[in-house]
Amino acid sequence: MIVSRSINTIRTAAGKARKKSKRIGFVPTMGALHKGHLSLVKAARKECGFVTVSIFVNPIQFGPREDFRSYPRNFKKDEMLLEAEGVDLIFYPSISGMYDRDFSVYVEEISLSRYLCGKSRPGHFRGVCTVVAKLFNIVQPDIAYFGQKDYQQAQIIKRMVKDLNFSLKVKVMPIVREKDGLAMSSRNKYLSIKERKDALCLYNSLMLASKMVKGGICSSATVVANMKKLIRNQAPYARIDYINIVNPGTLEEVKKIKGKVLAALAVYIGKTRLIDNMLLR
Ligand code: PAJ
Repeated sequence: MIVSRSINTIRTAAGKARKKSKRIGFVPTMGALHKGHLSLVKAARKECGFVTVSIFVNPIQFGPREDFRSYPRNFKKDEMLLEAEGVDLIFYPSISGMYDRDFSVYVEEISLSRYLCGKSRPGHFRGVCTVVAKLFNIVQPDIAYFGQKDYQQAQIIKRMVKDLNFSLKVKVMPIVREKDGLAMSSRNKYLSIKERKDALCLYNSLMLASKMVKGGICSSATVVANMKKLIRNQAPYARIDYINIVNPGTLEEVKKIKGKVLAALAVYIGKTRLIDNMLLR
């Protein structure tokens, strides 16, 4: 396994694999890896002859009052986990290696980014698109793997790839959950024992939504009201950022549920902002 902070080393290693006609799989991450990340790596390992993972806590996708400084970092453990998965190349750039002092070009998606997390995290998806575009240019993968955990992010990246003619395929893999249903997330590390219990209200509210829709309820307002009620009951101190029922293609809110919809929510458990989502039909 090659581990490097250098863009040139990464380009050369990926270039060599490309010359050998190996399919290049790429999994961008911010590290503090868990089974959710590793499910993407496993998918890449299965389908590609050469697997690259990037680990970079990208400062430009965090807001000024967000957790950039405290975001969990554990490179040694991540490296071990990736070695065990048979990864070929880890790109572990420094901030100055990615952003020159005169850095002044950004990539912005302006439609899907208006909804859900885009509303409460202004500039977040601009930071994500910019770093992912840079990573795509450096690694030049054939297939890039993203998780449905960040549904909106995956849709925005797909749009970027289409609109800017990146020559690669984006694959979106299912959400990996803890046994009790909590979606795995690097931010779960912030939770106290009590908060960890409260955090289950996100999944429980999505399961309730799924049951209601299966039961024939087609008013989004009714579903959302019941999700809110469940959260208030199960985790009285949780603060809801948003709960939306949206069109899974455009991310616009839908009033009447017909066909496939996405239920998505962001909830603060203490200081920790958690997100989750589920496709309902
Ligand atoms: P990060 O939060 O580290 O996530 C990296 C990838 O792992 C994302 O595609 C995310 O959706 C996926 N992932 C996280 N938790 C998951 C889970 N429980 N099940 C399945 N997949 C999961 O997302 C980012 O980093 C950054 O925004 C990045 C794309 C790297 C750009 O900086």
